[in-house]
Parts: sequence; structure tokens; C-alpha cells
Amino acid sequence: MREEELRSTAYLMLLVGHDTTMNLIGNGFLALLRHPDQTTRLHTATPGGTAWARAVEELLRYDSPVRDATFRCAAESFTLHGRTIAVGDVVSLLIGSANRDERRFAAADRLDVGRAPNEHLALGFGPHFCVGAALARLEAAVAFPLLLERLGPVRLAKPADELMWRPARVMRGLQALPLIRT
Ligand code: HEM
Repeated sequence: MREEELRSTAYLMLLVGHDTTMNLIGNGFLALLRHPDQTTRLHTATPGGTAWARAVEELLRYDSPVRDATFRCAAESFTLHGRTIAVGDVVSLLIGSANRDERRFAAADRLDVGRAPNEHLALGFGPHFCVGAALARLEAAVAFPLLLERLGPVRLAKPADELMWRPARVMRGLQALPLIRT
């Protein structure tokens, strides 16, 4: 790699390696707080075990930290749902929407921490599948059980519809997640 490529790769890894996982932890913890029945299912789960691995996949699907994939340019023409995409058209792929596709997921709008199989697109697909997927999954599988254990019983300090989301097109994440002990 040339120095310029090295620098931009390091910048990319720092940026996408931090923001994304931070959003997964924030959005995921919010989802757990809003679904105490699902959180209860995880109380006896072993950190690092299958139950937590499934829960992380479901939290990735349910409120995807990366909402839109990077733009794609159509290499050939095709028709999708009655719309023709021509060669060269720029296409925006909505990951958050695909992950709530009721043709793909039963009760797609429901959080089910035991969902399996769970073929979501939160980490992308194909040649550009997320380089950091294993790290992100590991970080989340460590963070969620630890947060639940160390924080103890907590609840949202304000109604969920008053929470502020960071203004961003691609990423979906909270500005803050204010909590109070119960
Ligand atoms: C929960 C955390 C993460 C999520 C949701 C996520 C999501 C994604 C998605 C959806 C893509 C594909 C984008 C596309 O096809 O347009 C992607 C690619 C990528 N991710 Fe992640 N990511 C996460 C964590 C990380 C981490 C921790 C790193 C690095 C340490 C990382 C590095 C990358 C890189 C370099 C690419 C580009 C791969 C390529 O274009 O070939 N990601 N990620």
C-alpha cells in the first residue's frame, strides 16, 4: 500500500469500527429496555453462549446500526417490483428496511432474541461483507451481558419517543441513552 492508501484505510477502520459498534450497543440496549420479556430470556444465558450469539444477531437485525449500504451502480439493467433499474443507475440499498422484510422474517417487527435462522443484512452481503463482523459480534456479545449485570435494574429516564437520534444518513444511532436506576 502507498502511504496515502494506508492512511485512508486506517481512517476508515477507525471510523467504521467505532461508530457502528457503538450504535449496535446503544440501539440494542434500548431495544432490550423496551422489551423486558426478551431481556428476561437472557438473564440466565451464559455470556459467549448460543443464546447471546442469537440475541446479538437479532439486535443487529431489529434496529440496524448501519441503515443504508454504500451506493451501488447497476452493472446491468433489471426490473424489481415493477421498477426498471438501468445500467449505470445509482442505487441506494436500505439495510434497515430489508431487515424488517415480512417476506423474509416472520413477525419482522417483533424483537425475538431467540430468532433462528436470522439471515439479516446488517453486516452487508457478498464481496463487501463487513470486514469487522467478527470483532463487532464479539464486542456486542461481551458488552450486552456486562451492561445488564453492572448497571443492574435500570429504565429509560425519558419516554422513548423523546430520545434524540444522531442526524446521519447512513448510520442509525442515539445521541444519548439516559437511564435511571429502578
Ligand atoms: C455492529 C457493527 C458493524 C456493522 C453493523 C457494520 C456494517 C457494515 C456493513 C453493512 C457493511 C457493508 C457496506 C456495503 O456493502 O455497502 C460493512 C462493511 C465494512 N465494515 Fe463494517 N460494520 C460493523 C463493524 C465494523 C468494524 C468493527 C469494522 C472494523 C474494525 C468494520 C469495517 C468495515 C469495512 C472496512 C467495510 C468495507 C468492506 C468492503 O467494502 O469490502 N465494520 N460494515
